[in-house]
Amino acid sequence: MASYFTNYFQILCSCVLIALLSNLCVSEAQDYPPVAEGLSLTFYDTSCPDLEATVRKQLEEEFTQDIGQAAGLLRLHFHDCFVQGCDASVLLDGSASGPGDTEQDAPPNLTLRAKAFEIVDKIRGLVHELCGAVVSCADIVALSARDSIVLSGGPDYKVPLGRRDGLSFATRNDTLANLPPPFANASSILSALANKSLDATDTVALSGAHTIGKAHCSSFTDRLYPQDPTMDETFATDLIGICPENSTVDGTTDQDFRSPDDFDNKYYVNLVNRQGLFTSDQDLFTDSTTSDIVTSFANNQTLFFEKFVIAMLKMGQMGVVTGTDGEIRTNCSAKNSDTTLLSTLVDVAGELNY
Ligand code: HEM
Ligand SMILES: *[C@@H]1O[C@H](CO)[C@@H](O)[C@H](O)[C@H]1NC(C)=O
Ligand SMILES: *[C@@H]1O[C@H](CO)[C@@H](O)[C@H](O)[C@H]1NC(C)=O
Ligand SMILES: *[C@@H]1O[C@H](CO)[C@@H](O)[C@H](O)[C@H]1NC(C)=O
Ligand SMILES: *[C@@H]1O[C@H](CO)[C@@H](O)[C@H](O)[C@H]1NC(C)=O
Ligand SMILES: *[C@@H]1O[C@H](CO)[C@@H](O)[C@H](O)[C@H]1NC(C)=O
Ligand SMILES: *[C@@H]1O[C@H](CO)[C@@H](O)[C@H](O)[C@H]1NC(C)=O
Ligand SMILES: *[C@@H]1O[C@H](CO)[C@@H](O)[C@H](O)[C@H]1NC(C)=O
Repeated sequence: MASYFTNYFQILCSCVLIALLSNLCVSEAQDYPPVAEGLSLTFYDTSCPDLEATVRKQLEEEFTQDIGQAAGLLRLHFHDCFVQGCDASVLLDGSASGPGDTEQDAPPNLTLRAKAFEIVDKIRGLVHELCGAVVSCADIVALSARDSIVLSGGPDYKVPLGRRDGLSFATRNDTLANLPPPFANASSILSALANKSLDATDTVALSGAHTIGKAHCSSFTDRLYPQDPTMDETFATDLIGICPENSTVDGTTDQDFRSPDDFDNKYYVNLVNRQGLFTSDQDLFTDSTTSDIVTSFANNQTLFFEKFVIAMLKMGQMGVVTGTDGEIRTNCSAKNSDTTLLSTLVDVAGELNY
């Protein structure tokens, strides 16, 4: 509770200051969801002051080579938070109960980008070299998602920090139960997200993350064969060219053909023009519960950015592990207990001159 008030006091104070100069800040800050207990906006200010600059700089380098990784990192944060909270469980190799029952084995994981996992662990290495093993993998994922948005042209925001890395694996079934499929309609998506205390505006705003990145044909061919009447004809013809019926190759396409790598509101312009890729996208415009929200975001990017930040702050603080719970992993892919066991074996092997 104390940290909640301290954080808020700081936000409000700086906003009042800025508000004296411009009129922007106060009205935006008022809608921000509270900082979760155990997290803070100044968490690493003394233990790792250069954390955020280090993450930003590394991602600038990565994205110069491949801007597509921004989408990979943003999606990684979503998958992390939706399954068992933002505890970096998505990064763990292995499982609690044996082969085939891991979070990473579940179908939604299979399309996460391997490179995104590598980038996170690369950043973890840099940051731990700089500050010691004080920064969690879960926080690195959250910061990387924010920077992916910013470096793609989207809104900037301060990330509450202090997440710790979880000790428990999520199962394949947990993963499937918590990540809705692209075939779901708006009412299913709304109830899945309502279960996570995300309302209709949050749901529509978060789906706007599909303004960047790629999708495989297998995520939307159900709308081509047979052709979904809610899809624009020309758009469908283009997709049929990319994803021939019964093809053995699972092709990919940009999620937002208007501006594939820009974090903007074109996703909603696509929906209004019936050029959404997934049922879970297009049905947000078809369904009367959410269609006005889609239209308002298509007409006003500033409004979309505002609501997106609010929804990201909610999502990014779901089920966080804080305080003395969990741990700070020294390898994002393994619990410390497993890493220690491995490095002990390596040390022993070294001493025996293997
Ligand atoms: C609301 C329910 C959602 C569904 C059903 C959904 C489903 C999907 C699917 C099926 C893909 C394509 C996977 C593939 O075929 O390769 C995808 C990609 C993506 N999703 Fe979502 N998603 C949802 C919400 C979100 C949220 C909340 C975010 C982030 C805030 C997000 C960010 C992304 C990004 C950035 C990509 C592109 C990934 C890449 O290029 O590697 N999605 N999503
Ligand atoms: C989960 O996805 C990541 C990224 O593609 C990959 O490195 C990992 O091996 C996957 N896990 C499984 C079990 O397929
Ligand atoms: C996962 O769910 C499936 C289908 O509901 C069920 O048959 C299976 O036993 C579950 N697996 C575990 C490990 O609970
Ligand atoms: C949405 O999908 C659910 C689950 O498949 C189904 O029960 C429901 O009838 C569908 N709703 C609409 C409006 O199509
Ligand atoms: C979400 O679903 C779970 C499992 O069905 C349930 O226990 C929980 O109370 C639900 N939470 C909310 C906020 O609806
Ligand atoms: C694709 O497969 C389905 C089911 O096997 C079949 O009915 C259809 O004719 C096939 N289409 C083409 C173009 O091969
Ligand atoms: C767009 O949304 C912003 C933020 O809510 C609002 O201040 C602005 O008045 C809106 N612009 C228009 C043209 O409606
Ligand atoms: C990190 O852990 C993974 C999974 O146990 C392992 O494959 C990898 O070699 C480890 N990396 C390092 C640098 O120890």
